[in-house]
Amino acid sequence: MRWLRANWLRALVHLGALAPLFFIVLDNYRYNLTANPIQEITVRTGKAALVLLVLSLACTPLNTVFGFREAIRVRRALGLYGFMYVALHLAIFVVLDYGVNLQLIGQAIIEKYYVIAGFAAFLILVPLAITSTRGWMRRLGRRWKTLHKLVYLAVPIAVLHFALLVKSLGSRPEPLIFGAIVLGLLALRLPTIRRASSALRLKNRSPLPNRAQGSRAD
Ligand code: HEM
Repeated sequence: MRWLRANWLRALVHLGALAPLFFIVLDNYRYNLTANPIQEITVRTGKAALVLLVLSLACTPLNTVFGFREAIRVRRALGLYGFMYVALHLAIFVVLDYGVNLQLIGQAIIEKYYVIAGFAAFLILVPLAITSTRGWMRRLGRRWKTLHKLVYLAVPIAVLHFALLVKSLGSRPEPLIFGAIVLGLLALRLPTIRRASSALRLKNRSPLPNRAQGSRAD
């Protein structure tokens, strides 16, 4: 019980991140993946990937702006789970959808803008996933942080991929909602906004008893 109280967020992240995979396997077993199962699992893995990547982006502002330090402890897990779903999403596209036909895949990459955007986001995420270990963090030193800032490029490109696939954003505004959230998270990283919001947080915090004043009053 004490372990759960100390690690509730980690437990929630692992359970929540594995839930989409669990339901894909369960629904496949129950023949419950619609009339077009390949499309269904492509959409499900894509959405799981995007949600987890956006949540991993939210961890830093949750710490710096709102003082929720726990978020930093789950950032890596969220990012890696996000990457796991991207890799599954791509594997489904390559193996199940295109039967590993490299000529057809090449043609899709050239012809469909949303595939180009998806691939670009994937390629940016690969080095980030590989270097997410403590060993790589130590080896790269300062450059590790610079490299991992690329996630702020990969996620907007992934949102663009989603927007390009949707026929009418008026009737399906999800990509716009994701886009607005990502823009908001990027804005919270701007030094001026970050400084202003942490100053506000410090101001709103209940003041600590001032020992010096206390002893003078005595
Ligand atoms: C960071 C990388 C990626 C993310 C976050 C992502 C996310 C998504 C999302 C959210 C959807 C769902 C669209 C919907 O609800 O209709 C989707 C669909 C799709 N994605 Fe991706 N994607 C990524 C990369 C890729 C890559 C690399 C490919 C393949 C080259 C790809 C191929 C597709 C296809 C074919 C669909 C359409 C499924 C359909 O409706 O038929 N995606 N993706």
